[in-house]
Amino acid sequence: MGHFVSPSLLAANFCNLGKDVMMINESQADWLHLDIMDGLFVPNISFGIPVISSVRKITKKPLDVHLMITDPDRYLTTFRDNGADILTVHYEACNHLNRTVAEIHNLGMKAGVALNPHTPVALLKNILPFVDMVLIMTVNPGFGGQSFINESYDKISELREMIDKGGYDILIEADGGVDTKNSKKLVETGVNVLVAGNSVFKSTDPVKTIQMLKS
Ligand code: DX5
Ligand code: ZN
Repeated sequence: MGHFVSPSLLAANFCNLGKDVMMINESQADWLHLDIMDGLFVPNISFGIPVISSVRKITKKPLDVHLMITDPDRYLTTFRDNGADILTVHYEACNHLNRTVAEIHNLGMKAGVALNPHTPVALLKNILPFVDMVLIMTVNPGFGGQSFINESYDKISELREMIDKGGYDILIEADGGVDTKNSKKLVETGVNVLVAGNSVFKSTDPVKTIQMLKS
């Protein structure tokens, strides 16, 4: 199986979102990544429900929703009702992660768990049997356009080994500072889903950049 590319809408033109979503529709992108930030879990506020439901109406791609919010349990149903297909919550934001993951599945979505750069993958041992995806933050969450943290490769290979040894069917998603220069090494290290914001939307030819990230 080849890897997936999930462009992050955070780097799109918010004055003309429709145009960028249409561009993604016509591209080789597999998913569309939506970053939800509450100004509390991370020091930034992005966009919310009206944006997701509007995007849902015009996109052909599955919505890969990354919740950077405190106590995400409050909003799982809302995100499902507004079009999320894959819902990722942060390990650091959940007191009862097993219950949260079960609820995401009950609602009919795929469940992802995200780790901040300082959180060791070893902490995932007892949740791995229950999740569909692990999102490794390769920058500190909150902003697009930051530099990739090189130590992430070791973390990804450690996680890849845990997944393979356990015989789990879990995708690894890398998020933050991903571009056409590091994409090959990331996939070789074990990443299945590349999230890319600035490297796609700020490039001169986003469709071609997506194609390069795919190949
Ligand atoms: C950061 C977000 C990322 C962000 C990636 O907190 O989770 O998804 O949009 O943007 P780039 O690819 O520009 O680093
Ligand atoms: Zn993200």
